[in-house]
Amino acid sequence: MNNHGHLKFTPGAFCTAQMCAPNAVVIFGASGDLTSRKLIPALFGLYKRKLLPKKTAIIGAARSDIPLDEFRSSQALGLREKYPNADAGLVEEFLEMLYYVSGSYEDIKTYAKISDELAKADQRAGRKLERTYYLAVPSTLYPVIVPVMDDAGLVDDSETPVRVILEKPFGHDLSSSSELDRILHRHLKEENIYRIDHYLGKDTVQNILMLRFANLLFEPVWNSRYIDSVQITVAESLGVGHRAGYYDHSGALRDMFQNHLLQMLALAAMEPPSSFEASAVREEKVKLIKCLQPFDLKNLEKSIIRGQYTAGEIDGMKVPGYLEEHNIAPDSKTETYVCARMMIDNWRWKGTPFYLRSGKRLQKRLSEISIVFKSVPHSIFTPIQPEDLNPNVLTLTVQPCEGMNLAIQAK
Ligand code: BG6
Repeated sequence: MNNHGHLKFTPGAFCTAQMCAPNAVVIFGASGDLTSRKLIPALFGLYKRKLLPKKTAIIGAARSDIPLDEFRSSQALGLREKYPNADAGLVEEFLEMLYYVSGSYEDIKTYAKISDELAKADQRAGRKLERTYYLAVPSTLYPVIVPVMDDAGLVDDSETPVRVILEKPFGHDLSSSSELDRILHRHLKEENIYRIDHYLGKDTVQNILMLRFANLLFEPVWNSRYIDSVQITVAESLGVGHRAGYYDHSGALRDMFQNHLLQMLALAAMEPPSSFEASAVREEKVKLIKCLQPFDLKNLEKSIIRGQYTAGEIDGMKVPGYLEEHNIAPDSKTETYVCARMMIDNWRWKGTPFYLRSGKRLQKRLSEISIVFKSVPHSIFTPIQPEDLNPNVLTLTVQPCEGMNLAIQAK
């Protein structure tokens, strides 16, 4: 108890990770980059921390006709890269949880095979497993896959929870994303659809709400009276890599800005939600997004700039320009860099600009949010003027090294 008679939480009690219920995880697009570089290593990371039950089954589905042992060994490569020191026995144990189904995404027979694998997984587990479907495929395939999943009975949630996980870009404009929503809702209930943004899984991003609403110190000054500007930066040193087909159609605005950067902006600027429930947090984010001042289309260059990387050097290595990258049209106008000044029309933020920027092939990989405070109103340290004193800056670094830094003046 503290001296107000309230129960005290032990430090870290908010962050306890719990073992999830055993799941059958089906990954569509299992032969792709996302699966081997991110999804399988992330699932192994949970397994290693004893957060993924042994009864879990991970079923990869893709077009390529490859035998199971080849699928397992190709995933082992990604695991070794991410976890070079992982215990070999543990990796083997995990790889045995992987299964594979091949076939076309249009063909119901593929889904019948998945259904068989799911039945086998239930049998091995001795119970009906929860279903998690991860669509690691371009969003143009969502309207192809989801209806056939439904026809094959895969999304029936009457006996067990069903989650369908989708990533961005969710359509390419308002009408295509509304259309996608309409198609999905013909087959899925809203509560079964998880449109995810992986930036929200990063500790420092989650810490924005903790910092703001679990401490008293910052909230009184968290407004345009004290804050001069907010700067949100997501810089990457990598180029477009092997993703030309996808990236040349999306560009930085659809790939990073409308999702990761706007989520970070919303967390930094929203009002306190009524609770930490998903719907309450979402409502506050939506309110904030609705207050974003539309860009002045006649003077767009005053609010937003777009750029494209050219050839150069990173860490002493020569790297090609965007137009020289493999499979990029030589006259492509796709932006690989974007920087925007956003204004929020509400009582808290009127007049404080939020600068959002993101780009590929920048000098270094760095994601951070900097809250730049105003200068002091008057200096008693003559001849030093208020503007000669650097303002306080609170920086939340998301990556590469998570952390928080507060710059203050001292003698
Ligand atoms: C993805 C983008 O959402 O995020 C990629 O599609 C980008 O282009 C990646 O490289 C960055 O994620 P992270 O976690 O490495 O910062």
